Amino acid sequence: MQRTLTKDTINKTGGAVLLKGWVNVRRDHGKLIFLDLRDMSGLVQLVVNPKVSNEAHKNASEVRNEYVLEVEGLVKQRDAKLINPNIETGKIEIEVTKLNVISRSKALPFDITSDTTNVSEEVRLKYRYLDLRNERMKKNLRLRHKVIHFIRNYLTDQGFTEVQTPILTKSTPEGARDYLVPSRIYPGKFFALPQSPQQYKQLLMVAGLEKYFQIAPCFRDEDARADRSPGEFYQLDLEMSFVTQNDILELTEDLYTKLVEAITPEKRITQKPWPRISYKQAKEKYGNDKPDLRKDKDDPNELAFCWVLDFPLFTEQTEEDFFHGSGESKWAPSHHMFTSPHPDDLALLDKDPGKVRGLQHDLVLNGVEIGGGSIRIHDPQIQEKIFDLIGFTDEQKNQFAHMLEAFAYGVPPHGGIAPGIDRFVRILAGEDKIAEVIAFPLSGAVRDPLMGSPSEVSPKQLKELHLKVDLPKEKK
Ligand code: AMO
Repeated sequence: MQRTLTKDTINKTGGAVLLKGWVNVRRDHGKLIFLDLRDMSGLVQLVVNPKVSNEAHKNASEVRNEYVLEVEGLVKQRDAKLINPNIETGKIEIEVTKLNVISRSKALPFDITSDTTNVSEEVRLKYRYLDLRNERMKKNLRLRHKVIHFIRNYLTDQGFTEVQTPILTKSTPEGARDYLVPSRIYPGKFFALPQSPQQYKQLLMVAGLEKYFQIAPCFRDEDARADRSPGEFYQLDLEMSFVTQNDILELTEDLYTKLVEAITPEKRITQKPWPRISYKQAKEKYGNDKPDLRKDKDDPNELAFCWVLDFPLFTEQTEEDFFHGSGESKWAPSHHMFTSPHPDDLALLDKDPGKVRGLQHDLVLNGVEIGGGSIRIHDPQIQEKIFDLIGFTDEQKNQFAHMLEAFAYGVPPHGGIAPGIDRFVRILAGEDKIAEVIAFPLSGAVRDPLMGSPSEVSPKQLKELHLKVDLPKEKK
């Protein structure tokens, strides 16, 4: 007999089925044993009656929650008063004729049949594979999948090519701290994990791809904060050639509007087309550059998208910008150093850099910055000027020599955006934390309690990499 998924049992009333799954709950009613069997599609109630099969009943009496079973039985209509309106298969139950235990389970460290948000983070992550058995968590992973699937289809239909860019790449002073990977073959040299595919996507424009996207993993060695995943996160990274800023905004707006309509039709977008607000207006009217434009903040189904535009190209350098420049300039890029100055403000670059606007666009949803991008500089001379203004030393400039070199071979004007996947899905799922929409997130303490990473490596591995670990005194 072929396996039937629990959700399909409702179409098989009167028929025999073979089911496989986990015991969600077991209830012993004297002679009768009731088991809720769970699989990827949902739940169905099993009734094990010794009068139907003595052996099945004997096997079922040993069964505990989370055992994996293989069950044969007949699909029976329930009496009207026994119908359970809370589950999809609530009108039927399975009269078990055969029941085998495929594998046993220890008692679980926490209850997975109800919301697990009150369980400690450490325990949830240590047993993440159990936490993910919870219905809410599965729903979140499926929602994430649907979002990514929709994006891939939409952009493919629009003529985009998805390209994987390197994970082992080069450390460049882009903003955050890099994750470094030592090279075995070149002792003392390091790869860096990409903070974003920014330079590669620009190089793909030089290569003539014209329309690129990628569901891209990004790595930044930052502390965890609300809406900030420590370590790694994903972006919908995209870039286009021969476009205006308006083209990028319109494409993004159309993509996200259609995505919301298709995947979460219960949600309402507060205002269409999305409001476009200048940085100055946002600061004056809302006191910040990511205004929450929801009409009713208690409504979980409201999505207030807006664009924030006309950012200043530079902000004053802060402690956090330690990678920018030599520390001798007061300016740091407000988005990143490849963002084009507003063409009307070019003359101000020398006179009054603080007044220059950038062709940057931030995508804001319900008061959260969910994406950022810009029209890029494609004139090598302007790029050099920006490097000077942010106080790059010759050595630092040299780290970007490949970009200036590439731009000497016919570079199309280009621009793009990178909306975060995790932040967007978090809001769509109505969750408070982005870890709720990530299968295996790092903890707030930037560790993985499941695998036990980060971990020490063997002296042999260190030796091969020509590395010596010099721990601070208190950690020795
Ligand atoms: P930026 O650094 O603004 O731009 O990042 C773009 C978007 O990525 C998401 N994001 C994060 N999500 C979760 N955890 C994090 N730690 C995290 N950091 C960033 C946010 C953010 O808006 N290369 C440019 C984009 C471009 O110019 O095209 C970039 O990376 O949603």
